[in-house]
Amino acid sequence: MNKIAVLTGGGDCPGLNAVIRAVVRSANQYGLEVLGIKDGFHGAVEGDFIPLSLADVSGILPRGGTILGTTNRDNPFQYITKVNGVDQPLDRSEDVLENLKEAGVDALLAIGGDGSLNISLKFADKGFPVIGIPKTIDNDLMATDQTFGFQTAVETAQEALDRLHTTAESHHRVMILEVMGRYAGWIALYAGVAGGADVILIPEIPYNLSRIAYSVQQRAKQGKKFSIIVVAEGAKPSGGEMVVERLFSDRSDPVKLGGIGSKLGDDLEKHFGLETRVTVLGHLQRGGSPNSYDRVLASRYGVAAVDAVLEGKFGIMVALQGREIVQVPLHQAVDQLKLVPLNDPLLITARAMGIEMGD
Ligand code: F6P
Repeated sequence: MNKIAVLTGGGDCPGLNAVIRAVVRSANQYGLEVLGIKDGFHGAVEGDFIPLSLADVSGILPRGGTILGTTNRDNPFQYITKVNGVDQPLDRSEDVLENLKEAGVDALLAIGGDGSLNISLKFADKGFPVIGIPKTIDNDLMATDQTFGFQTAVETAQEALDRLHTTAESHHRVMILEVMGRYAGWIALYAGVAGGADVILIPEIPYNLSRIAYSVQQRAKQGKKFSIIVVAEGAKPSGGEMVVERLFSDRSDPVKLGGIGSKLGDDLEKHFGLETRVTVLGHLQRGGSPNSYDRVLASRYGVAAVDAVLEGKFGIMVALQGREIVQVPLHQAVDQLKLVPLNDPLLITARAMGIEMGD
């Protein structure tokens, strides 16, 4: 092994640069060269590679985003290519393998979520040495206790809840905060508990509007004339269809941000006369500097991925289990999404504190 390549795929996330930095620093200790692939799998198809030296990664630890760029559109197995002036999805995976070979790359480190790791698994199945590094603020990847970026997103949402509390209390309003989480309610659950929410709505538990209104009214009767509701973007009313589809491409079915928060607010006003205001936190959760937890986790993942290269362990993902970073088969991470189980300890804690979960 002489040369490795690293890419960041899918939606960005605080801590991506911390991983890249750890990979380069650790590889440097062992005399491995590192190439960065620009804009995720787009650069892999187009052969857009840049050398990454220690100088290139100096000072990037606290920076949000990714110095390599990313895109959640490009899948080499269905790569939109112009054929006779018409866009067509073509299998360009052989181009990727050709580009990697030409650049002398011995192994690929793919930092990504469900979509990018699925693509990585396909390259592993084609025999290319691939190592996955789990990323997503949604924390919905299997086989790892946590993805980096999640804790920072939770902190951002909790800070928003702290701010909403004061204005909610002053105006005697119901404040709804919509957070990310298309399929899994991890951010809503953790931020909701940390931020003292009265109602937490997650995709895993279809909600009943009357229950929410009842709990708001009960609080009002007890003198609390305001309520704070956290709703994950993928939450649905009961009776509404709740579809949790397997994703192949990270972004094949984007959820329109602001959809469920506004609907919930409208419904509470219309059916129960509750004055509500809605805040959609959106991409604020993805931007900005990673917190210390995510910087440490990202650095550990980066070093562990280089260790795996040196051990010749491929087709795996580095993962956090307990306090240890371990190697798990890549397919375990992407076979299904990690939803919040109904017996999750924090869910039980939330209920025990009287937080309304909407069911
Ligand atoms: O990374 C996943 C996620 O944070 C989802 O919760 C959200 O739906 C999505 O990204 C939005 O991504 P974008 O608008 O960048 O496609």
